Amino acid sequence: MATQEIQRVLVSRRRIARRVQALASEIAASYRGRELVMVPLLTGSMIFLADLMRCLPLKMRVDVLAVSSYAGQMTRSREPRILYPKKLQVAGKHVLIVDDILDSGRTLAAVRAILRRQRAASVRACVLLRKHTALRLGMRADFIGFDIPDEFVVGYGMDYNHFYRNLPEIAVLHPSVIATGPHGGNSHSRIAPS
Ligand code: IMP
Ligand code: MG
Repeated sequence: MATQEIQRVLVSRRRIARRVQALASEIAASYRGRELVMVPLLTGSMIFLADLMRCLPLKMRVDVLAVSSYAGQMTRSREPRILYPKKLQVAGKHVLIVDDILDSGRTLAAVRAILRRQRAASVRACVLLRKHTALRLGMRADFIGFDIPDEFVVGYGMDYNHFYRNLPEIAVLHPSVIATGPHGGNSHSRIAPS
């Protein structure tokens, strides 16, 4: 990973680890004695989920969900769609959605509505990051890792055009990468899970 592609580190590994542990304590306290279904939204929440669930001393199942979305500032908005699985098994279950970033809030709103239609006993959401836009729009999540400015971030599972997920910290990309695409690519839109 060329370091000149990263403008700056926004959240260090150490701060992430401390906050994930604290979030897990909040979650464990509020679900005490209950069985949980964690529903991570692929692919950006993968590393967050892996760290979070290992700090959670609860009986749980994990049912991944792939949602199509457009990410990045320069893309057109579109309603998120569930790509996987065909059938959810959450009726009567306590569901905790796990996502990387709350931005416009459209993804989370769509997933919440779907899970409620499937008659989950309760639906709550845990996001690693809440962007300023989400805060301004009053978009809600029950457990929030960090509030961040409206900048495009990568690392700790989060990508730009599928790259940079393996960075261990949360970083802001250099604007020139966003203009030209990572490693010389130039695609700004996607419908694959982000
Ligand atoms: P929302 O529906 O606008 O809230 O979109 C949230 C989704 O967009 C997140 O789950 C991410 O997959 C993606 N996203 C939003 N901002 C960023 C970013 O800065 N970096 C990487 N992905 C992002
Ligand atoms: Mg996502």
